[in-house]
Amino acid sequence: MAEGAGSVRLELAGIFQSAVKKAFPEESVEMVVTPCDPKFGDYQCPVAMGIFKKMKGKEGAPKNPREVANAIMGNLADSPLIAEASVAGAGFVNVRLSREWLADRLGKMITEGVATWAPPPAKARVLVDFSSPNVAKEMHVGHLRSTIIGDTIARTLEFTGAEVLRINHIGDWGTQFGMLIQHMSESRPEGLGEEGGTEEDVADLQKLYRAAKARFDAEEDFKTRSRQAVRTLQSGDPQYIAAWKRICAASRKQFEAIYERLNVKLVERGESFYNPFLAPLVEELKERGFSEESEGAQCIFVDKIKVPFIVQKSDGGFGYATTDLAALKYRVTEDKADWIIYVTDVGQSQHFQQLFGAAKKMNLLAGSTKVDHVAFGLVLGDDGQKFKTRSGSVVRLVDLLDEAKARCRAAIKERWDERGEEISEEDLEYASCAMGYGAVKYADLKNNRLSNYRFSYDEMLNTKGNTAVYLMYAYARLCGIFRKSGRNVEELISNEKIVLEHEKEFALALQLARFPEAVERTVQELLPNRLCEYLYELSDVVNGFHHECQVIGSEQEASRLLLCQATVMIKRACFELLGLTPLNRI
Ligand code: ARG
Repeated sequence: MAEGAGSVRLELAGIFQSAVKKAFPEESVEMVVTPCDPKFGDYQCPVAMGIFKKMKGKEGAPKNPREVANAIMGNLADSPLIAEASVAGAGFVNVRLSREWLADRLGKMITEGVATWAPPPAKARVLVDFSSPNVAKEMHVGHLRSTIIGDTIARTLEFTGAEVLRINHIGDWGTQFGMLIQHMSESRPEGLGEEGGTEEDVADLQKLYRAAKARFDAEEDFKTRSRQAVRTLQSGDPQYIAAWKRICAASRKQFEAIYERLNVKLVERGESFYNPFLAPLVEELKERGFSEESEGAQCIFVDKIKVPFIVQKSDGGFGYATTDLAALKYRVTEDKADWIIYVTDVGQSQHFQQLFGAAKKMNLLAGSTKVDHVAFGLVLGDDGQKFKTRSGSVVRLVDLLDEAKARCRAAIKERWDERGEEISEEDLEYASCAMGYGAVKYADLKNNRLSNYRFSYDEMLNTKGNTAVYLMYAYARLCGIFRKSGRNVEELISNEKIVLEHEKEFALALQLARFPEAVERTVQELLPNRLCEYLYELSDVVNGFHHECQVIGSEQEASRLLLCQATVMIKRACFELLGLTPLNRI
């Protein structure tokens, strides 16, 4: 497949690049955009102004940008894509796509699959570090955001053909284990025992955590014993290791239940994994002079940040920073990732700036390795304050998902009852999960991730407006058209073709063809809301089409059904990238 075969924009950019090269051999710009107003054209090449400026004053320079634009247009190769090109305004070259070509392209997508429209991968091997909750603590909405955003980014990268490592960097090696294990050992007369405590000790991790924390904060002696316990654990004492494993296993069970509900795949590789690398790393840093001593601690200072990046505390211990640096090194040298993406709340921005700065110092990011911190804002409650339960405690993710699901269940049931139809328990369960969890995900993804957003069930479950519920109903309605038409889709696909005559048919086809561009943008900016915007806009364009173009019983029925089929496929692809489960019938 030709480079950029997935994206009309990239294909046009290639054509324009050749034209620019022919007209101005010194220039090699490629840029094609969507014009701000569709009346100008379907695509636009805006490079003439820049070329004019660069050539100004040189011999034989063009007199104005329009002259540059005309020269580019005059050198456009004959291409089946372009129905018409024209120069407008200060020097834009506008293009109208050929309707036959576009119809043909949609037809091919229907038979060959949406995957053939995937834009080429930006990087071959990408590691996405996301979700990453902390063991023994409850996963909170911040981790939910990381899970949802990270999953969509991973899915989108996978769609472009990149190999993606989905890494769950869980906090399984912190100082919290000292107090947890110490508390476990003291609350039973026989101590930890070989088994490292019992199932019962870890059955309610939050209770264990709260009890241990209360003592840690109140009892000076306990604090000291807890600190000693961390060292005992880190020295590999079998009883302590057994207790630690018990706690991790209990946490893992809880995390996995959430991932299962959300249909998110992750590979667990927690902080403890890097433990053996920490001491040698710090030795290396000292030896090579990358770190320096400051107030007894080993620190790395990076440009523009006064606060040190502490790789070894004054008591000799290693922390979050050391682990992240060891992890980054491992990811570059062992995982051979050429793009590493971290998805955490914006509060950790400075940590990542320091981490990336330290890695640069160490020459870890030489070559083409890219690193990005995908930061996100807070989830707020109805009152505009940090999201909490009525009693003021953190909202448990399980409760939140349960509530969304329960509300959807009631709404779906009511709908079926109103229609006088019976829905099976199995279908109802499936649909309420799909819609409930989908609503939670979409309400998060549709916002620019950097902004804080308000969590509101009423809003996210609204059947009108920009919600998953609205989008899912619209999708199901579209699927319903085939059922009502009584036509066989496979037969249509092999015997009929799309003809784009009506302006709304063309508008829909064009919006469908822009799908790869939405994927490109999402990957480039690492902003899932770009995909949501695309999908929501598509729904709008589909409404416009339905408003003016009758499908069933019309003369164009076959062609229009195929256009609906292409729409179903693109919508489904969007749902998949956003981690939503589409329903054919609700
Ligand atoms: N466990 C951390 C937290 O809950 C997030 C870890 C993110 N990943 C990383 N490599 N630092 O805040």
